[in-house]
Amino acid sequence: MCGIVGYTGTGKAGSIIIDGLKKLEYRGYDSAGLALQNEGKVVIIKTAGTVAALEKIYRGNCLTAKTGIGHTRWATHGRPTEVNAHPHGGCSDDLAVVHNGIIENYKLLRSWLIEEKDHQFRSETDSEVLAHLIEEYYDGDLLAALRRAIDEVKGSYALAAISAREPGRIVCVRRDSPLVIGLGKSENLVASDIPALLNRTRRVMVLEDGEFASITAEKVEIYDAGGKPVEREILEVNWDLEAAEKGGFAHFMLKEIMEQPVAVRETLRQRIDLPSGKVDLSELAMDTGEISRLKKIHIVACGTAYHAGLLGREIIENIAGIPVDVEVASEFRYRRPLLAEDHLVIVISQSGETADTLAALRLARLRKVKVLAVTNVVGSTIAREADQVLFTWAGPEIAVASTKAYLTQLVALYLLALYLGQVRKDVDPALALDLVKGLLELPAQLEKLLADEKLEKLRAYSNHLACWDNAFFIGRSLDYPVAREGALKLKEISYIHAEAYAAGELKHGPLALIDEGVPVIALVTQKVVLEKSLSNIQEVKTRGGAVFIITRDDFGDLIRQEEAVFTLPPVGDLLAPILSVVPTQLMAYYTALARGSSVDQPRNLAKSVTVE
Ligand code: G6P
Repeated sequence: MCGIVGYTGTGKAGSIIIDGLKKLEYRGYDSAGLALQNEGKVVIIKTAGTVAALEKIYRGNCLTAKTGIGHTRWATHGRPTEVNAHPHGGCSDDLAVVHNGIIENYKLLRSWLIEEKDHQFRSETDSEVLAHLIEEYYDGDLLAALRRAIDEVKGSYALAAISAREPGRIVCVRRDSPLVIGLGKSENLVASDIPALLNRTRRVMVLEDGEFASITAEKVEIYDAGGKPVEREILEVNWDLEAAEKGGFAHFMLKEIMEQPVAVRETLRQRIDLPSGKVDLSELAMDTGEISRLKKIHIVACGTAYHAGLLGREIIENIAGIPVDVEVASEFRYRRPLLAEDHLVIVISQSGETADTLAALRLARLRKVKVLAVTNVVGSTIAREADQVLFTWAGPEIAVASTKAYLTQLVALYLLALYLGQVRKDVDPALALDLVKGLLELPAQLEKLLADEKLEKLRAYSNHLACWDNAFFIGRSLDYPVAREGALKLKEISYIHAEAYAAGELKHGPLALIDEGVPVIALVTQKVVLEKSLSNIQEVKTRGGAVFIITRDDFGDLIRQEEAVFTLPPVGDLLAPILSVVPTQLMAYYTALARGSSVDQPRNLAKSVTVE
């Protein structure tokens, strides 16, 4: 993610930029920095801390600059250290760049700049290459240099740059990462998102993909990718600050649910080769020999991440044929798990800081078993202590109830299963290609699902659910872990007592609890057990249960006559869990709304549980 702010005008640029960065911390907060045009030079101040830490350092310097750029980082390439924090300069102290996005071909560009052009790099980031490229092409016009640099770059970017040789000017460009320009009186700003602008102005222009801008205190010029000037409409923003931070959504949870297509796309990015269908996880530190010798995998995690692990077992066993155990970390750490050197422990953790998961990791390493971490936070303790890391690129997740991080954990586990299966030659290439294509279709399918008018049906059922104190989720096969995650989401934020059952277990107890109107959410996405799942639904209905069915479009004929049905876009059995969990997230959200409970910060719970 990352947040960018730029300011040029008559005010104190440093304070104004820091104020803007504070409003963007939801986009990342592991390090921060500032570059100011000061007495003919660009002065860069940065820290491995938060924006508040940056502010302390800035206040200690006497800088009255009127133009500058700033950044709050969510680390992707390179740990969250001071040297990796933005802004990045080139070899001289003439210029600075802030970047949000990923430069896919940075390694190639970096080698060229070092070997052929004698540039010296300081950081481990992909972004630094932008500063050196612009410096290399600079010939008196920063926008022209930026344009030439961007011609060479592949990837996603929102980028702003300043040069000491062009006082009062900021240039910027974007592709696949957002940038908005704020128009003030004798001052103008640029930022990743509107909240950063609201203390100075409510008049904004949105930069479109591929467009460049040159910004001074008096003038904003926008150009298309070909260099032609563009007229852009000015929008008046009437959101309050709180709404703006949530991108106009009422809650972070809803915003994060809606961000899932992007989060999945980012997690898949650069990890799949087409047309071969090969998954490339060379970022992992396991060689072919180690992968081929693997006898067993132990997945260990807590909460929602544990539910991702339950599906991970099904996915890895199905695709790669390696036996998998799954356990909650608080249990694993106090047992004497049977571990051996040809085993692999996978810990899954959004935050990378959960105390029990960290203890499980340490236990495994003590027992000389390699640990692979699936985590969302670069530089987190778990990321640092694991032998190897598979990062999920969900961006910061703020709501306590995890949604987008969970989905990206699943995607990472599919990629891992395919990778292991391909290296071991245990996966049928045709199946692998099918799955890879299916994975690549997911972002578009999620977009469609989230824009669907069928969401109204979920709302209507949630209103029924909101009147009950108990609810049940049922599913068989891969639907069962999804049912468990659905139940967890509902209890976390609506405080309804929700339980999930393997549908085949109903007769062994839970059916006794079904009575007139009792809410039962049934997941029916697995072809192999379709008939069985439908019979279980009948058992519930016969006893008066109010069933809501989440199923696939292609099972429609069997189920269409039912009133309370939510259908998913066509998807195979193995990938269905990535789509089917989304309606359960929304159902939990709508139910919590209807009950008036606190959606983003449920009582008694925390986002990151760093105590036992
Ligand atoms: C807490 C959070 C959950 C999360 C769990 C594990 O309980 O509220 O949303 O799933 O911790 O957190 P982790 O950061 O390790 O994934």
